Amino acid sequence: MTDAITQAVQKLYNTYPFPPDPITDGPPPGYNWRWSVPAAHHFTLGWIPKQWPALQILDAGCGTGVGTDYLAHLNPTATVIGIDLSEAALATAQQRVERSGVAQRVTLRQMSLLDVHQLSQQFHYINCVGVLHHLPDPKAGLRALAAVLAPGGLMHVFVYGFWGRWEIRLLQKAIRLLQPPGADYRTGVAIGRQLLAHLPPDNRLVRRERERWALDNVHDATFADMYVHPHEIDYTVETLFDLIADTGLEFLGFSNPRYWQLERLLSPMPELLAAARALPPQQQYELVEALDPELTHFEFFLGRPPLQRWQGALEQMIPVRSTCLTGWPGRSLLDYDYQPVDLTPLEYDILSQATGDLTVAELLSRVPSATPEHIRDLQQRQLLWLQA
Ligand SMILES: C[S@@+](CC[C@H](N)C(=O)[O-])C[C@H]1O[C@@H](n2cnc3c(N)ncnc32)[C@H](O)[C@@H]1O
Repeated sequence: MTDAITQAVQKLYNTYPFPPDPITDGPPPGYNWRWSVPAAHHFTLGWIPKQWPALQILDAGCGTGVGTDYLAHLNPTATVIGIDLSEAALATAQQRVERSGVAQRVTLRQMSLLDVHQLSQQFHYINCVGVLHHLPDPKAGLRALAAVLAPGGLMHVFVYGFWGRWEIRLLQKAIRLLQPPGADYRTGVAIGRQLLAHLPPDNRLVRRERERWALDNVHDATFADMYVHPHEIDYTVETLFDLIADTGLEFLGFSNPRYWQLERLLSPMPELLAAARALPPQQQYELVEALDPELTHFEFFLGRPPLQRWQGALEQMIPVRSTCLTGWPGRSLLDYDYQPVDLTPLEYDILSQATGDLTVAELLSRVPSATPEHIRDLQQRQLLWLQA
């Protein structure tokens, strides 16, 4: 690890380990379904296996271990390896997993994800959040991860978006111009905070910070990660698909599908909506990005072929209630994405029976007014998973 960019990135995260979330005793609060392997598998491929292999999970660029901790708790039999460049971040991650009670299943290693082949193992699930865009060559990073993803394995990736970070890039530039040569990151944070405190309140950079980021940025670590980073690459839909091309990985969809719905923007204009639907998928994404350039990051799933999508007969599948529901048992729930759901009495009855010991055919005979369409609808809304 000799290049100047990587050294500067390591120094930033040794100065300001990220994320700065406090360490608490016991399991982390709530869930992020993207860190539940069954939830991610069902979302991307439409089914989950009845028997899982002994799951091996990699958190590539784990920082202070917030995601690592969730990965261990949401996948209670999995073994998790977290790797990072920053020894300070890893020290916090170690404390976090010890205090939360999963340290026996979590190993933390100081290494670059470019060297991940040295672990000599393959992973069923790789989480790489907020990391690739800080590499000198993100594609080399993605290739290194692809090489250790098991066939049929899934990867969850988060990288920055270009259009929604317009103001961030400008303040980054202003701080770079104003700081003395060789200044450390703390000086950059002080300059950035001074600018945001004293520029006119209706200044666009100040407004964006106030409306969008101020709550997170009370922490200097978050502020530094945003405004004084030594190296970041922001992606558009086009450059994102360039990043993924030729890695041998298949794009399996964005993990925030609501944002990408054409209807959200075009439903009052049926002819334009029809024209948009006729576009190839990447161009549909480019259109949404062009019409709603708020997006600050891309969050998506990749898979290593061969990938088995659900094709079987519905009747023989085993329906299982999603484990990512808040408020169950009850008819008013939050779904996997923390969106409110009001179940009909029939939907509630179906979910009550979906405990993993009946086939769809058996469940339909126990709940006579239920139909295969009800099951499919609950499945598409990710309230119910289908197991095979
Ligand atoms: C923004 S933080 C994200 C931390 C964590 N993934 C999260 O989302 O909370 C980026 C992390 O990636 C690490 N990192 C950057 N380049 C890396 C590399 N080549 N190999 C491993 N880790 C790297 C940094 O040290 C830092 O801890």
